[in-house]
Amino acid sequence: MQSRLMLNTFNKLKNKKNNSMTTYNKPVRSVVLGIGSYLPEKIVTNDDLAKIVDTSDEWIRERSGIHQRHIAADDEITSDLAIKAAKRAIKDAGIDGTKIDLIVLATSTPDNTFPATATKVQAALGITDGVAFDVQAVCSGFVFALNTADAMIRCGQANKALVIGAETFSRILDWKDRSTCVLFGDGAGAVVLGAQEGEGTNNDRGILAAKMRSDGKHYDKLYVDGGPSSTQTVGYLRMQGPEVFKHAVKNISSVVLETLDLVHMPISQVDWFVPHQANKRILDGAAKKLKLTRDQVVVTVDRHGNTSAASVPLALDEAVKDGRIKPNDVVLLEAMGGGFTWGAVLLRW
Ligand code: ACO
Repeated sequence: MQSRLMLNTFNKLKNKKNNSMTTYNKPVRSVVLGIGSYLPEKIVTNDDLAKIVDTSDEWIRERSGIHQRHIAADDEITSDLAIKAAKRAIKDAGIDGTKIDLIVLATSTPDNTFPATATKVQAALGITDGVAFDVQAVCSGFVFALNTADAMIRCGQANKALVIGAETFSRILDWKDRSTCVLFGDGAGAVVLGAQEGEGTNNDRGILAAKMRSDGKHYDKLYVDGGPSSTQTVGYLRMQGPEVFKHAVKNISSVVLETLDLVHMPISQVDWFVPHQANKRILDGAAKKLKLTRDQVVVTVDRHGNTSAASVPLALDEAVKDGRIKPNDVVLLEAMGGGFTWGAVLLRW
């Protein structure tokens, strides 16, 4: 109901771009025009890790479902990954990239403390119009960035948006801590969103509903023990794994149902579930609670590990490129991460 009212409010918004005015007479939707991703070449297997910490392939597979992860080369930084994914998404969209007037980049591993890594991507793409900024919501980053871009598109502040999740988590891992270093990987994924008129119903293509949540009382359950203000260092990732696990399935399931509820869509109408790839056991637990079948769940955690903000667009890209997700399919994205933060986005492809 709430989102329907919002759509009606935005019916008559005008969008100014390149000195031309677009008048929308119907509700505006953010439709995915293209998608792309990038994984660093170097693959690190569980057996490779067993050579540097006291662990085993068996333990990692059993507890997390991870078999391998990609790790950025020494001379590769987050913006390099983001730019490669962004270029692939723009090519897939078949648009002139310089027409993008909004870049929202989700990362917890920016090139520098500031400026935003998004501005580096903007410059590399030759874009001089519009705005670029980063969003920091750890593993929920891409879902938060997508929701932010959608809101800006629907209220007429942007016409074509590039939404990126890009991480080099390998740089903030304590490679002596076996309880964390085996779980994460590097990568990037991106989508191009475009404003299009819809009918204001669930049959529209584009983003249909979204919900973001956070609860800062869990700050110290998953955090990095450094920062410019506190220690003047970058720090390493620290995690109370079982505590995170305990909250993950519950938070994911509830935010998914709340998002569907916003547009009165039963879960039976969802074709594909593309969850944040943290741990296979969390994915299985959430899917079971939501009564989704195994076939509906897109899984990449086995090959990518947890790539934080990059994991959802990486998984989405894989399922689109291999033909599973087709135009008009209903896709449900969700994520949970440090903070805690969590959220979901419902869209029609
Ligand atoms: N290899 C071998 N043994 C290990 C390793 C390892 N890599 N890591 C920990 N262990 C040991 C521990 O020391 C402990 O040993 P002990 O019993 O002698 O003390 C034992 O294994 C069990 O440790 P637990 O932490 O209780 O293991 P658990 O079954 O909870 O699995 C894991 C740990 C995989 C981290 C799990 O808790 C988890 O997945 N939590 C969610 C964390 C997560 O996904 N975070 C990502 C970010 S948040 C998000 O995206 C949702």
